[in-house]
Amino acid sequence: MAAPPKVPAWVELRLTVPVAAQDAVTAFLAARGADGIQEEHPGLDDLGDDGPIVTGDPRLWAGDAPENPSEEVTLSAWLPAGDGPEAEAEALRGWLAGLEGDHPGVSAVEIAARTVEEQDWNAPWKALWRPTPVGRNLLICPSWLEPEPGEPRRVLRLDPGMAFGTGTHFTTASCLELLEDLLEAGPRGARVLDVGTGTGILAVASLLLGAGHATGIDLDPAAVAEARANAACNGVADRFEATGAPLDEGARGFDLVLANLVAETLVDLAPLLAGALAPGGTLLTSGVLHARAGRVEAALGAAGLTQARERRDDAWVTAAWTRA
Ligand SMILES: C[S@@+](CC[C@H](N)C(=O)[O-])C[C@H]1O[C@@H](n2cnc3c(N)ncnc32)[C@H](O)[C@@H]1O
Repeated sequence: MAAPPKVPAWVELRLTVPVAAQDAVTAFLAARGADGIQEEHPGLDDLGDDGPIVTGDPRLWAGDAPENPSEEVTLSAWLPAGDGPEAEAEALRGWLAGLEGDHPGVSAVEIAARTVEEQDWNAPWKALWRPTPVGRNLLICPSWLEPEPGEPRRVLRLDPGMAFGTGTHFTTASCLELLEDLLEAGPRGARVLDVGTGTGILAVASLLLGAGHATGIDLDPAAVAEARANAACNGVADRFEATGAPLDEGARGFDLVLANLVAETLVDLAPLLAGALAPGGTLLTSGVLHARAGRVEAALGAAGLTQARERRDDAWVTAAWTRA
């Protein structure tokens, strides 16, 4: 069994600044090479693991972001290890001195700096993630594990990296189940468009289940790279194409269009998603909270589609749509 890949060491900087200085400090940290910057707003409730946020901009999942009740924000940034934590903290403090005029006292804020040891951030859940059967025919298998000898299901090997889509979330699993039915019933060699491909799981699954060609689109360049790597890992790279270009009117003639996005994005993209379908084609939508399903139905209805099938759990709705 191959060990999951490691990531290099980082310097973590953590400081609390006035909200009014946040943009300037964030820009400085980004210019120092911060790979990620986390904001914490004192006084806001922590959603913990129970929030409905799955990916992307939280405002798209949970309505408008609540207003920060505090005038301060705590920022944590992760920078390449470079010259070490003291040097990075020193550079930040020196730069903060230049903000004193606008934000008196800002150069005296406490800066916590430390090296974050080399580790695989995803290791805890990766260690728990086991090969998972989905639908009637698929087994989603972490790429660093081997399925049992003689495994009868089609094995889809996956390393999600930082992208969304392992098949453990209802929105993905329900798409896979409907996809399986649609590919079985539809013509072999179907052309598939996967909008918001993430790890590429839906596109790769469709190719393993008999589709002829799949195109994956994702606005996140990391997802585009992960999707390509996962297609290669499953031996279907020659039938898969991934792009970071947004969906546009040029997308036409697809037998299946897959869109596990969020309700607001589905509403915005409704005419393009409907326009991408070949005559007799099917659109699968997912990532829609119950409360927002009506808006999606109205938008897709206006684009000429009617709902043919639906799967629900206690939060999400996944649906198949065909031309009315
Ligand atoms: C919920 S994930 C779905 C991933 C995978 N298709 C699955 O079913 O598990 C949504 C993906 O859509 C991408 N995305 C969000 N808005 C998009 C848009 N307008 N066009 C293309 N991709 C988008 C996100 O970056 C994210 O990777």
